[in-house]
Amino acid sequence: MAIVLGIESTAHTFGIGIVKDGKILANVKDSYTTEKGGIIPQEAAKHHEKVADGIYLKALEIAGIKEKEINAISFSQGPGLSPCLLAGLRFTKSLAAKLNVAVVGVNHCIAHLEIGRLTGAKDPVLLYCSGANTQIIAYSSGKYRIFGETLDLGVGNFIDTFARYAGLGFPGGPKIGEMAGKSKNYIELPYSIKGMDIAFSGMLTKLRQMIESGKYKIEDLSFSLQETAFAMLVEAAERALAHTGKKELLLGGGVACNKRLQEMCRIMCEERGAKMFCPENSLLVDNGAFIAFLGEIMFNCGISEKVENIDIRPRERTDEVDVRWKK
Ligand code: ATP
Ligand code: FE2
Repeated sequence: MAIVLGIESTAHTFGIGIVKDGKILANVKDSYTTEKGGIIPQEAAKHHEKVADGIYLKALEIAGIKEKEINAISFSQGPGLSPCLLAGLRFTKSLAAKLNVAVVGVNHCIAHLEIGRLTGAKDPVLLYCSGANTQIIAYSSGKYRIFGETLDLGVGNFIDTFARYAGLGFPGGPKIGEMAGKSKNYIELPYSIKGMDIAFSGMLTKLRQMIESGKYKIEDLSFSLQETAFAMLVEAAERALAHTGKKELLLGGGVACNKRLQEMCRIMCEERGAKMFCPENSLLVDNGAFIAFLGEIMFNCGISEKVENIDIRPRERTDEVDVRWKK
């Protein structure tokens, strides 16, 4: 039985989780936010360096363990913003050297998928809707394959950019969700899906023009944005379920916190006799616990590296990872 500490730092969030035998003992995080404007990678990295020690001590305290009990450290190796990943790498290296333990490099997207095990999903299609990433992923012959993805922006970045145009600050997802709840007035927007791939930039341009025209209420635009963008995601996910013959849909990524997206996915699954799984919000958004959770699975399979050999992988693709731990 191992105790694994996981470190997340791919973008706006610095998080540390501690997992023992598949059980989450602690999940502490602090996220960089702005009142106006988007994320500045260098600033987010500075944020991570500032909060890291405090989060580490708090995680140990919540888990009720001493640092010498930690058997391995896992960290989010990529994909992500290089300055942010480097902040995580520096912290990982100094802690691993201090504790003299091995390190497990974890792919962030796959961590979003594997944490679904806690909800009971066994072989799901993952609808992964985060800021930077929007992908439909499922396991097939030794790899997690990307069946469909966004051809331009991630759905979260798309919503956050719209929120920024509307003067609402970062992150925009919760604010747009709130605005959308105040309207039922659907305005038609560009709907773009090719097979299992989708694109958002056409809709974003249209929305920007609509905001600038001053003729539309942000509530109506938020409602219409959600209905259109989420319908695209649901359509792509349904096609992936049909294509793979799988019977489980798992949600992942911060945008999956949105109740309307969850509802639309649930309806689609019910209609085709599939089961929907959705982790709790604290495990949908970026966090240290899912990095520790996958880190422990990999560590138990003998996958780890010496601290001097580790590096970041800012552009690592989901299907580049050799999934040796899955039977
Ligand atoms: P990744 O590195 O996996 O691409 P990420 O760094 O973008 O992820 P996540 O925390 O998975 O981080 O997702 C962030 C996105 O989720 C942001 O676009 C944000 O607006 C959105 N989001 C966060 N909370 C909510 C919420 N409660 N409702 C809707 N959207 C949300
Ligand atoms: Fe993420």
